[in-house]
Amino acid sequence: MELKPISFEKWNLRILDQSLLPEKEKYLNLEDLSSIVDAIKTLKVRGAPAIGIAAAYAFVIGIREELSKGKTIEESSEMVIQNIKASRPTAVNLFNSLERMKIKITEIVGENYSHKDLLNELVKEAERIHEEDVQASRKMAINAFPLLKHVRVVLTHCNTGALATGGLGTALYVIRHLYKARKDLLVLVTETRPLLQGSRLTAWELEKYRIPYRVIVDSAAASAMEVFDVDAVLVGADRVALNGDTANKIGTFGLAASAKLQNIPFYVVCPFTSIDSQTPGGKLIKIEIRSESEIAYFNGKKLVPDPNKCWNPAFDVTPGECVSAIITDRGVLKPPYEEAILRFLGR
Ligand code: MRU
Repeated sequence: MELKPISFEKWNLRILDQSLLPEKEKYLNLEDLSSIVDAIKTLKVRGAPAIGIAAAYAFVIGIREELSKGKTIEESSEMVIQNIKASRPTAVNLFNSLERMKIKITEIVGENYSHKDLLNELVKEAERIHEEDVQASRKMAINAFPLLKHVRVVLTHCNTGALATGGLGTALYVIRHLYKARKDLLVLVTETRPLLQGSRLTAWELEKYRIPYRVIVDSAAASAMEVFDVDAVLVGADRVALNGDTANKIGTFGLAASAKLQNIPFYVVCPFTSIDSQTPGGKLIKIEIRSESEIAYFNGKKLVPDPNKCWNPAFDVTPGECVSAIITDRGVLKPPYEEAILRFLGR
């Protein structure tokens, strides 16, 4: 049975609160824009595709709220977009979703429409964004299989499964698909400091799917690659620049560098829409810097003498030259990435 970590029902966004896992499996019914924006900021819903989907539903809910206060559609749209954009800056999915919703509004507003029709059309568009993500996951898994069918030990970082997406996953769904053919597969899961998306979320999903895994601390990854004879490293992406530079969870760059030194293939798995062809290189990707308190405290207990003396970037940028291939729903991209991406875009 598939997990349903995000759904839209009766004007509520229903999410599995990821901040409480693995201790509690609690669903939240979010009925207004500000609670969805807060859920994105606090990582109750997280993972690039999932926040793209949450943003689309948040847009619909926000527009409905603003229209009911008597605002025009243009005013509502601008206000809601600014509000959602301010939640998390790195994942391109959130921005793509808002762009699509905005385009949908211009298509509808050109016609004879009622607010009810407009809202119905926007709900349909958000549902399409959600469904397309699920279909993209299936295609990524199929496209990845020929590259990976020989592997026995894979290492993955952060959480890229059902929780991080519309319900299946990117790198972790590729791993699930692979496991159907390779029952001897072992997954090494980095705990993913500071918020432990690997040990709390990826391991929780792997338990559910009954796939063998070991959790390692992030700093054990380089030696685990050697000791466990890792065949491939698989990660997701929050945004891929035109040259293949990839923004993903902090620590990804170090894993890629280690993998390169040890001649282990390093694969990025993401929907083609995570490729931001407008951004030529990774230096231009805005990296979210999160609160020092995420490093300085654990369960309310202080871990460093001065909590102000921490630096907590949520993501880093792996140079395209460390990425062996980018596995997307539209196919597998190989270096040089700029050429490959432009070819896929028909340019
Ligand atoms: O801060 P998070 O937990 O939202 O970061 C998530 C990641 O970095 C994932 O690897 C990425 O979004 C790809 S998810 C399929």
